[in-house]
Amino acid sequence: MKTQIKEHARLQWINLDTDLPAIDDGSDVIESLTQTPKTLSCRYLYDDRGSELFEQITDLPEYYPTRTEQVILDTYVSEIIELTGACELVELGSGSSRKTHTLLTAYSQLDNPLHYYPIDVSAGILRTTALNLLDSYPLLNVCGVAGTYERALANLPPRIIENRMLMFLGSTMGNLDDRDRDIFLTQVKQALQPGEFFLLGVDLQKPIGILEAAYNDAQGVTAAFNLNALQHLNDRFDGNFDLDNFAHLAFFNPTASQIEMHLKSLTDRTVKLKALDLEISFKPGETIHTEISRKFHLPTLEDTLTAHGFPPLKIWTDAQSWFGLILCQSQ
Ligand code: AVJ
Repeated sequence: MKTQIKEHARLQWINLDTDLPAIDDGSDVIESLTQTPKTLSCRYLYDDRGSELFEQITDLPEYYPTRTEQVILDTYVSEIIELTGACELVELGSGSSRKTHTLLTAYSQLDNPLHYYPIDVSAGILRTTALNLLDSYPLLNVCGVAGTYERALANLPPRIIENRMLMFLGSTMGNLDDRDRDIFLTQVKQALQPGEFFLLGVDLQKPIGILEAAYNDAQGVTAAFNLNALQHLNDRFDGNFDLDNFAHLAFFNPTASQIEMHLKSLTDRTVKLKALDLEISFKPGETIHTEISRKFHLPTLEDTLTAHGFPPLKIWTDAQSWFGLILCQSQ
C-alpha cells in the first residue's frame, strides 16, 4: 500500500513501508545471532540514540570522512552544477546534513524550480528534515519517500524536470559487501534514465593508522555507538544484553579492504531476547560482527561503476586523496 499525505503546500510524501512489517519482525536477528560467527545487520546501529551518536562521531577529530567530503563539495559544487545543469535531487539518506545544504543552495541559484526527494526508512526523520529545509528554501519543493532504499528506488515519483541526480554521500555504500553493492548499483541504474546523474561519495584507502583511529576514537563515542546496537536489541525485543560484558572492536581487514566493527563477549554468557523467544550463548571472546566499512580503490571502483552503466564523468578528491566524490552519468 502506498499512502500519500499532504501537510504543507510544498511538501508531499510517499510512505512505502505501511505493508512492510516483515523486515521488522526480528527474523533477521534470530538468523544472524544463531549462526557462526555471529553477525548483526548494521541497521541496528541506528535507533534514535544510535543516530545521535553517529552525529557526534562526524564531529570527532579522528573521524575525517564527513569533514573531508564537505571540503570537496564546497570546493567543487559549482563544477558539479555546470556538468549536470538544472536537475531534480534525489538523496538516499535523511539529508539533514550540511552537505545537502551545500547542494540545495547551489542548485537554488539556477533559475529553475527546485525539487528535492529525500529517501529514508524513518518517516519521522524525513518529516523533520523536510520541514526544516522548506523553511530555509522558499522555492523548494520536497517529496519525501519513506521506505527502504530498494523499495524507494523502484517507486520514485514521476519527474517534474526531465533530469535527475541521485545522491549517495558519506560513503554509506561502504556498508555493503560486493554482492549487495552490485544489487544496489543495479537498482540505481534502473531508477535513472540515460543521461541522468549519480553523485557518489566514497572513503578511500589510506594508511591503516588513520583508518583505525577513525573507528577507535579517544572519547569512546564509536564504542558507545557500536554497543548501543545491543541496547537497541534489548529495547526492541525485550532482551537482557549486559553492555558491560561486551567490548568494542574495530580494525582494518586488508584482504577485504574494510574496517570491521565487532562486539566481543568478555565472559561466558547466555542472553535472552524474550520477544523473539531466543536464547543466545556466548563463549568468552566470541564476537558479533556489526558493520563493515569498505575503503575504496578509485580505479577499481571506476571499473565497477562503468560495468554497471555509470561511467564516471568526473572524480574529485581532497588534497590527501582520503575521500572521493564521483559524478557518474547513466548510459
Ligand atoms: C555512515 C556508514 C559511512 O562507515 O564510517 C562511523 C558509520 N561506523 N563510525 C562509516 C560509522 C563507525 C559510517 N557510515
